[in-house]
Amino acid sequence: MSNPNRQSVIIKGVGSYAPPKVVTNDDLSKVVETSDEWIRTRTGIRERRIAADNETTSDMAAKAAQEAILNAGISPQDIDLVIVATVTPDMPFPNTACFVQAKLGLRKVPAFDVEAACSGFLYALDVAEGMLRTGRYRNALVIGAEKLSSITNWQDRTTCVLFGDGAGAVVLSVVDEPGVGILNTMLGADGSETGILCVPGGGSASPSTVETIERSLHYIQMQGNQVFKIAVRVMCNSATEILNSTGYTADDVSLVIPHQANNRIIEALAQRLEIGLERFKINLDRYGNTSAASIPIALAEAHRNGRMKKGDLVLMVAFGGGLTWAASLIKWQ
Ligand code: ACO
Repeated sequence: MSNPNRQSVIIKGVGSYAPPKVVTNDDLSKVVETSDEWIRTRTGIRERRIAADNETTSDMAAKAAQEAILNAGISPQDIDLVIVATVTPDMPFPNTACFVQAKLGLRKVPAFDVEAACSGFLYALDVAEGMLRTGRYRNALVIGAEKLSSITNWQDRTTCVLFGDGAGAVVLSVVDEPGVGILNTMLGADGSETGILCVPGGGSASPSTVETIERSLHYIQMQGNQVFKIAVRVMCNSATEILNSTGYTADDVSLVIPHQANNRIIEALAQRLEIGLERFKINLDRYGNTSAASIPIALAEAHRNGRMKKGDLVLMVAFGGGLTWAASLIKWQ
């Protein structure tokens, strides 16, 4: 359980941003053949936030980051590293983190994106922690931000009801105290399942053409049933593995922040881990699935609602396209 280093990497500040436009299930039922009842009972989602046409992923990321920096009580000039997790970058390149760096007027520090779909935020957290532990950086901005509405097929009822837009951010900092903050993060991937959740067009495999657009290949495609089954298994396994790796048990966990994809996935996870749902942070009813933004938005909300106190064990667990999965265990500071 003890940290071999004398230093730890802690979450020093959190922030989030959700665009003001709310789209309810009833609103969607006017666009595709669906109903509030179907969406609520199958997913738990009641509404989602949708970005304005001219609002970019980096705009949302910068707003969430601003709040995280303020919450950390540091100056933007103290940031040494910027990592954005996203599947909806402003552009294929430059990376979204560079746009964020400029928007926030940060120093000319390293800025890059990480892409691991809905697991992206925890992947970015692990990358940032590793970089902080080299001693070359002290404060990192780690952001999950998505404008999923830009890759959603609004005529496909099997996917368009699931997703939303938003951003969440944390400031990660090195502190001279062992055994606090991030205790461990574990990542995994299974590249044999790339086809069950993807955006098939617009990349080098199938550059955008009139034909790819006509075939809607630039939108999210998902085999929901398959994803569902794998999600429950991999989230449960990664949560169990990270607890085992740190010597803790499910009973020790104060709060679980799971990727917010579907209530039924979270309920199955709670049941398998034998952790009561009251110890889960769930906000997908108001945001839908915001991919890489979902965990940091939930984390920021949980913090605002006073759900974490010093010494609490917080378990974050995610899965996403790739397939990818990740879990991180934190002793809250
Ligand atoms: N409204 C009404 N009916 C619908 C809708 C809708 N929005 N969507 C699908 N249906 C219909 C289907 O057409 C099907 O009809 P049929 O039986 O006549 O063929 C029926 O409802 C059942 O469809 P299923 O796909 O079997 O429904 P299921 O209970 O599996 O729920 C869902 C679908 C919600 C997508 C579920 O499978 C799920 O949540 N999967 C996980 C998805 C997920 O978590 N993705 C996260 C990753 S996202 C990322 O990484 C970017």
